[in-house]
Amino acid sequence: MAEESRQKVVIGNWKMHKTIEEARSFVQELIPLVQNSNSRIYLAVPFTAIYPLAQEFKDSSITIGAQNMNDASEGAFTGEIAGKMLVEAGAKFVLLGHSERRHLFNESNAFVNRKVKRAVQDGLQPVLCIGETKQQHDEGKTEEVLRAQLQEGLADLEADQLGDLMIAYEPVWAVGTGHTPTPEKIEELHRFIRTVLAELFSEEFAQKVILQYGGSVTPVIAESLLHEQDIDGLLIGGASLSLESFSQIVNDSQLNQSSKD
Ligand code: PGA
Repeated sequence: MAEESRQKVVIGNWKMHKTIEEARSFVQELIPLVQNSNSRIYLAVPFTAIYPLAQEFKDSSITIGAQNMNDASEGAFTGEIAGKMLVEAGAKFVLLGHSERRHLFNESNAFVNRKVKRAVQDGLQPVLCIGETKQQHDEGKTEEVLRAQLQEGLADLEADQLGDLMIAYEPVWAVGTGHTPTPEKIEELHRFIRTVLAELFSEEFAQKVILQYGGSVTPVIAESLLHEQDIDGLLIGGASLSLESFSQIVNDSQLNQSSKD
């Protein structure tokens, strides 16, 4: 399967930003700005905004999802949220193992693995986030870390359960810092990720998975990133909070897509 069959996907990760009202007016204004794009546009929004956005924009091109979920189906887990609650609210996908969850909230590969299993069971499209820290990067351990995150994060799952899996490669040292690896380095690591996926599942599976890059993506660098064959999309934090920068990235991703056809 060639890369042309992998559609570009741009995900905005709003983190802990935007009230329901701010979220509604953002999406209302975003839709006309990106109406000619044939990239898939996903927004990972705060829990409170999922239901109102999923209701109001259900017939639009914007897919609404969550930034996290718990691995249990329900129970005494104060402050947590279950996959089936997200599905009922209208979420279609969920970010799992984001570096802020791993590092600020101590999420392990094993916990992320249980979440992937629950997401799949509940019918949420999982976006598994992986990436090395600055120290691991400096010590030359990037591939080792990515391999472990994939192996352990996707343990005991079959390719047919992961049909719509997306993986976001986000070096921890690039998230929110203004530093990014070169497009060539990211392409090299995306190829490495596909090699590991081929070992764990199959070559066909590895070629189908949408691989995103995330970490300090701005409109200035988005275009050069999307020129790379194995960068199928972008996970955007800071730049997804502004209509101007997010719509520009979405529209540039569309240009890249048609130039490859
Ligand atoms: P950033 O965040 O674009 O602000 O670096 C990316 C992310 O955390 O997904």
